[in-house]
Amino acid sequence: MSTIEISVSVNGKAYSENVEPRMTLVDFLRDKLALTGTHIGCEHGVCGACSILLDGTPIRSCLMLAVQANGHEITTVEGLGDENCETGILQDAFRDAHAMQCGYCIPGMLIASEALLRENAAPSLDDIKEAIGGNICRCTGYVQIVEAIQLAAERMRGAAQ
Ligand code: FES
Ligand code: FES
Repeated sequence: MSTIEISVSVNGKAYSENVEPRMTLVDFLRDKLALTGTHIGCEHGVCGACSILLDGTPIRSCLMLAVQANGHEITTVEGLGDENCETGILQDAFRDAHAMQCGYCIPGMLIASEALLRENAAPSLDDIKEAIGGNICRCTGYVQIVEAIQLAAERMRGAAQ
């Protein structure tokens, strides 16, 4: 099959790759760039495991073709830490609040949380529920995930003072 060259920025790094027109963005990230932190669950836009930021907006990378991402800026869960790959406030809050069990949903949860906290430094409970409402977790019951986001927001506000 013929391929198309695309250029994208992923976690601040520029990539140019040849891809098949039918390749999904999540497969591109995982198989071409080896960024396997973005998970694949349902593959039809329901579970949120494949969430990434595209130009700062959370999207489901299983619903987008890699060619559609040409020229865009992508952030995956690997890009949420600092430049030394150290975890940041958000990931630390998830750890400290015991917000994960199997962890499969967590990359998507972190992306949804990051998008929320970039826009809203003091989200209400309803804001948090809405932000993660499209991300399915089959283990935790969501309570600790919500607490982790509240903790991260509190710590981020403290760090900004
Ligand atoms: S794998 Fe994309 S939404 Fe489930
Ligand atoms: S921690 Fe297992 S699916 Fe969320």
